[in-house]
Amino acid sequence: MLQDNFMSFQRFRYAKWAIALLVLCIALYVLDNPPIKPGGGTVLGYGLGTLGALLIVFLLLLGMRKRAYASRMGTLRGWLSAHVYLGLALAVVATLHCGFEFGWNIHTFAYALTMAVIISGIWGVVLYLHQPSLMSDRLDGRTLDQIAQDLRDLDDRCRLLAQDRPTLLALVEESSGAQIFSLRRQRLTGRNRHCATARVLARLRVVGDQADASSNEIYTLQFRRLQQLKRIRSYVRQRTLTEIWLLFHVPMSIALLVALTAHIVSVFFYW
Ligand code: HEM
Repeated sequence: MLQDNFMSFQRFRYAKWAIALLVLCIALYVLDNPPIKPGGGTVLGYGLGTLGALLIVFLLLLGMRKRAYASRMGTLRGWLSAHVYLGLALAVVATLHCGFEFGWNIHTFAYALTMAVIISGIWGVVLYLHQPSLMSDRLDGRTLDQIAQDLRDLDDRCRLLAQDRPTLLALVEESSGAQIFSLRRQRLTGRNRHCATARVLARLRVVGDQADASSNEIYTLQFRRLQQLKRIRSYVRQRTLTEIWLLFHVPMSIALLVALTAHIVSVFFYW
């Protein structure tokens, strides 16, 4: 079954809107018979240009909606769904607007920036679909703080099981000090080769032959600890990649707003 996410929001409501918009724009473009070369200067060209500019303003508003926590203007998921589909439709609207005419000028620069933002948007969608929990800022419905508390509880259980056994207790303490990442750059790989829990688990495996019930349980708990750490690392990696992606998507969007304004002003200036 298809997972319900921002792409399938309300049975692809905004995908249908975008398709309807595209069919209309393409039909008008094909049927249009302007007295001058098709492009931004025809009546249809002005219409498509206005539509494109309105779409860009709407797409930019997502940044405000994201921060308006008390807003009643639709859910964030719905906004994002509309953002993605109407953003994709913009690629066609902008291309029809300029009538496939390109050159070394501010108009083509604004067009190129539009395409760059759209392409970067597709990359963002891939990231979000790969790790849906990024949308809610939670891993399995839990915040990272709650997961950290689970790990502390797990450590306390291990300490209890290892009491009066100094060697085991030392291993448990060593593992409890494990860092999610020892180096900043590991946020990009999602791996920590110096993980104390992995090290302790390897040592517990060696003493496994002489293991009793308590050390077996410690081993199982440490194994779970390591699995949880790996999932946190993978989640933090995805979150870091998303933050990096936003560093492209958002500034390029602002640059687009500036280029779009310059494009519109220059068109009316030379009118
Ligand atoms: C000219 C076109 C576009 C503009 C101006 C634009 C602008 C923006 C802005 C301002 C944000 C808010 C970022 C923030 O404040 O955190 C955003 C987020 C986003 N955009 Fe776009 N965007 C465009 C096209 C697209 C397209 C075509 C897609 C996908 C195919 C897309 C996907 C996304 C995604 C996934 C987010 C993240 C939302 C979140 O973090 O909750 N964008 N965009």
